[in-house]
Amino acid sequence: MPKPILLVTRKLPDAIEARASRDYDARLNPQDEPWSTDGAEIARRATAAKADGILGAAGDQFNAACIKALPDSVKVIATFSVGFDHIDIEAAKARGIVVVNTPEVLSFATAECAFTLLLMAARRAVEGEALVRSGQWQGWAPTQLMGVTLEHKKLGILGFGRIGRELANMARGFRMEIHYRDMQRLPPELEQGAIYHDNEDSFLSTIDMISMHVPGGAGTRHWLNAERLAKMKKGAIVINTGRGGSLDDAALIAALKSGHIRAAGLDVYDGEPKVNPGYLPLQNVVLLPHLGSATIETRDAMGNRALENLDAVLLKGAAPPHRVA
Ligand code: DGY
Repeated sequence: MPKPILLVTRKLPDAIEARASRDYDARLNPQDEPWSTDGAEIARRATAAKADGILGAAGDQFNAACIKALPDSVKVIATFSVGFDHIDIEAAKARGIVVVNTPEVLSFATAECAFTLLLMAARRAVEGEALVRSGQWQGWAPTQLMGVTLEHKKLGILGFGRIGRELANMARGFRMEIHYRDMQRLPPELEQGAIYHDNEDSFLSTIDMISMHVPGGAGTRHWLNAERLAKMKKGAIVINTGRGGSLDDAALIAALKSGHIRAAGLDVYDGEPKVNPGYLPLQNVVLLPHLGSATIETRDAMGNRALENLDAVLLKGAAPPHRVA
């Protein structure tokens, strides 16, 4: 029996490429970057290869045109990510193409990234780093670069899913008070003492810091806008490791400039890899290049999870464990 043909759109960790090549006729790609911004090249290559499955990633555009142009041989698209807002799910359903993702294994790493940003923003790490590197640092001084402590602050978590709850665990270690907002209240064993707000205004006006963990797409577009930022306390901190589109950059830049928002930490951007140029001169924003899940351990686990799902569909004829369409 010939092995199923698997088109891999991006460079993946060595162990994952080795596993893919062992079990599939894998068409690997040595490049980290997407082939094109419109998904046309994915469809072209899948057609040329007569691919049975595609292993893609965030940044690949599996839009309606791409999915429509895929050959009939394609039975499954696996994304090397938990987010799937880069895949037109309705178009995939219409073609009977299964879509799978990699949840759970990246929750800790992504929460760790959010917590890194929170600490860096609160403790002015970007300004401090720049001062030392510039050679201008004159030594310890009583009022130099004072930040704010996390201890006893109220951390607002928007989206209390797996990543949000991992962040809450980390924040408890820093004696923070956890507040959250979600579609509905979670059971006590998941809340673990976190305070649920069914009222958006009470949530925004209570918290000292917000960390955003909501999916991308039309339903969350520019959720954190000028009006909601204005409802937050003066001096609050904003962290986003979810999806860039859920935050209105122009509004956040204005609030960072006015000082209404003390600092921000961002790992995701609206229309990334473009970054709103208004952030670049600001010292009170930490800017990371979408590193949420970027640990060696996590990327291996994501690759293995993607392959488990592909194996189910292409090798075992079984239901994939993490199907989103
Ligand atoms: C995810 O897994 O969704 C990460 O944000 C990478 O896109």
